[in-house]
Amino acid sequence: EKGGYDYFMLKEIAEQPKAVADTLLGRIDAGGALTLDELRIPDSVLREVDKVVVVACGTAFHAGMIAKLAVEHWTRIPCETELASEFRYRDPILDARTLVIAISQSGETMDTLMALRHAREQGAKVLAVCNTNGSTIAREADAVLYTHAGPEVAVASTKAFLTQLVACYLVALYLAQVRGAKWGDEVRGVVRELSEISGEVERVLETMEPVRELARSLAEKRTVLFLGRHVGYPVALEGALKLKELAYMHAEGFAAGELKHGPIALIENDLPVVVVVPSPRGRSVLHDKIVSNIQEIRARGARTIVIAEEGDEAVVPYADHLIRIPATPTLLQPLVSTVPLQVFACELATARGNEVDQPRNLAKSVTVE
Ligand code: F6R
Repeated sequence: EKGGYDYFMLKEIAEQPKAVADTLLGRIDAGGALTLDELRIPDSVLREVDKVVVVACGTAFHAGMIAKLAVEHWTRIPCETELASEFRYRDPILDARTLVIAISQSGETMDTLMALRHAREQGAKVLAVCNTNGSTIAREADAVLYTHAGPEVAVASTKAFLTQLVACYLVALYLAQVRGAKWGDEVRGVVRELSEISGEVERVLETMEPVRELARSLAEKRTVLFLGRHVGYPVALEGALKLKELAYMHAEGFAAGELKHGPIALIENDLPVVVVVPSPRGRSVLHDKIVSNIQEIRARGARTIVIAEEGDEAVVPYADHLIRIPATPTLLQPLVSTVPLQVFACELATARGNEVDQPRNLAKSVTVE
């Protein structure tokens, strides 16, 4: 049942190219337009949406943070992403023109379900991004966009995360399409690259041996920090979450710009710091800023583990370890930059003798509040 892999997690990491491709299947037509027929929310309603709110927990929340960037960039509709467990307890402002996106692999997460119910009571339309057919969240939402990851058995979410990203990109692009906003060459180009991205995920998977080796060499460490900016920030949080839940290590993700506001005091000699570097094309200012962040921490003794695009030479002098990922459009980068972090956490957990598929104290679906 593990298909020759030692753990379900390894199998599910390896299944990601297929999961990504399956989630796109039948949703992009020959002309490069999106066809999300299963979205039962009429285009006329989607055209009137004036606010998007994403609610989710854990890894799905990190997908939601990336969804916010995609929705705002491609549609110019204000979007906020909130932890489902916080949302309902603060009297959020919602009405019939609010589109709430509830992201959940299992479709049974109680916090997310309660947030969905609260949103519907306030008259908002709820779209579920869900992996489990017929689950409670899928049934109670106004519409569902299924992620076609297939069953995810390992407690730590991997392939579901990548498919949640794909589904969120599709929703954001579809909103842009029905509203005619920014539906120009940029968006067309993104759709084309999205349709080819599963091959890039495959390529990343083929180059993971050095990441495994690096992970094993860090098995005795107590702390690993993760830094990112823009889409790299949620990826940093996701890398830290994976390490906490699997390796039981202290791990924290930061927005790299926040370093100087406190966390830089944590940097000490030989502390491993993973940095997710945004594309040097596109937002080059952001890229230059993070390169100086890497310089700053390295000057203070950090052992820098840099995840950067192929061809990004600016990072080379400051990287103690360099993990290459293929070039992608800025917003799509998490589909490739997350993968090394999953492999890293899985290998570290194994090296520390932990039970990878069933970490202590955790359940696959959290059906209590
Ligand atoms: C982390 C992980 C959890 C889930 C979270 C939400 O690896 O798996 O953080 O992402 O419990 O679960 P779903 O997506 O089922 O609502």
